[in-house]
Amino acid sequence: MTKLWGGRFTKETNELVEKFTASITFDQKLALEDIEGSLAHVQMLGECGIIPMDDVEIIKQGLQSIEQKIINEEVQFSVEDEDIHMNIERLLIEEVGPVGGKLHTGRSRNDQVATDMHLYLRKQTSELIELVKEVQNALLLQAKENIETIMPGYTHLQRAQPILFSHHLLAYFWMFERDKERLIDSMKRINWSPLGAGALAGTTFPIDRHRSAELLGFATVYPNSLDAVSDRDFILEFLSIASIMMTHISRISEELIIWSSQEYQFVELDDSFCTGSSIMPQKKNPDVPELLRGKTGRVYGNLIGLLTVLKGLPLAYNKDMQEDKEGMLDTVETLNGSLRLLAPMIETMMVNKEQMYAAVTNDYSNATDIADYLVTKGLPFRQAHEIIGKIVLYAIQHKKYLLDLSLVEYQSFNPLFEEDIFNVLQPKHVVEARNSLGGTSSEQVKQQIVLAEGKLGLK
Ligand code: ARG
Repeated sequence: MTKLWGGRFTKETNELVEKFTASITFDQKLALEDIEGSLAHVQMLGECGIIPMDDVEIIKQGLQSIEQKIINEEVQFSVEDEDIHMNIERLLIEEVGPVGGKLHTGRSRNDQVATDMHLYLRKQTSELIELVKEVQNALLLQAKENIETIMPGYTHLQRAQPILFSHHLLAYFWMFERDKERLIDSMKRINWSPLGAGALAGTTFPIDRHRSAELLGFATVYPNSLDAVSDRDFILEFLSIASIMMTHISRISEELIIWSSQEYQFVELDDSFCTGSSIMPQKKNPDVPELLRGKTGRVYGNLIGLLTVLKGLPLAYNKDMQEDKEGMLDTVETLNGSLRLLAPMIETMMVNKEQMYAAVTNDYSNATDIADYLVTKGLPFRQAHEIIGKIVLYAIQHKKYLLDLSLVEYQSFNPLFEEDIFNVLQPKHVVEARNSLGGTSSEQVKQQIVLAEGKLGLK
């Protein structure tokens, strides 16, 4: 088979070189975007009088018929044609004859591939935005269900202060809200058209870059042709956003794994999201959250991989840049699949309210409230802290919790204690007392829910 660029060559390409340099095994995922870009390009060429409108029609019909064949999986791509761009051009020429060779007028694979990537990422980003909303929705549903559920809040994975389970879940809602905002914001930069930059310097033909951009729904064009073909910032940005989002996915996965362990038993994941052990029949393993946590590694790797590819590249296009694709495609698939699993897994998990409450009553996480109690009675906080430290130590030594001590025992540490201390120490009271903005009281959490519903356009 002769190469589309074969004119200057006297020898066949070494077979290993052919395989090594080809990208068709992975860039065929950009096939539909490649055709979309070509349709706009050829339309613009016709409108600008660069090729006759009759030819434009033939080429467009050819491209559409190839598109249909690709969708029906009737097309065999070949490594000899290296990448998706040349494969499609070859198919076009086979389909419509030599006139198909006019498509590449005023264009290079360098602006073509950049255009494909912009189109691909734009489509994937909008899909991801919808998927993030589903995760947020699942969190919100569970938050509403658990507006009365009290659990221990932790710092250093040590029980710190009781909180509402809703409050904990909503913390993730806001993380995903920021992720969603980042995706939406990145669209501004994805929406620049590189098409018409040519190989690096522009073209001698009187093209209209704004017209092809408009046909493709891009908001604007890259003002500099060198930048247009060398820029991969939009991919780096996507990979960064994906990495941050995977961090959030990994953190909530870690909590689900801990919470569903025998040691905690705070939640039980639905059977459909767990797997068994081939040897230990009693086991129900949280494989899905474990894999979500694990897959975070490859997403970070893809970011670091592309940063490294780009860091020393001179302008403009270099073949190194072909390495931008596999990591991006892998990240899109990983993130898409992760979000699709996370949402129903959260929605279907069983929350063990009794177990969470029992954990709150068997600890000293109400200690801060005794300090605050003495402060409202006029004692400086630092002094109160000192006294409570002693009370906690005393309680531990006597194998008692703070609610088990008598008023006489409290008063032996400070005469300011009165009967109402026992009400103050109830977990429910401890939670409700934290009514500062963004705090864990049910009033504050309900306000958060209203805000969250607003973000999802539910209210
Ligand atoms: N397959 C190439 C890539 O993905 C397309 C651009 C090739 N351009 C070139 N001058 N070799 O980067």
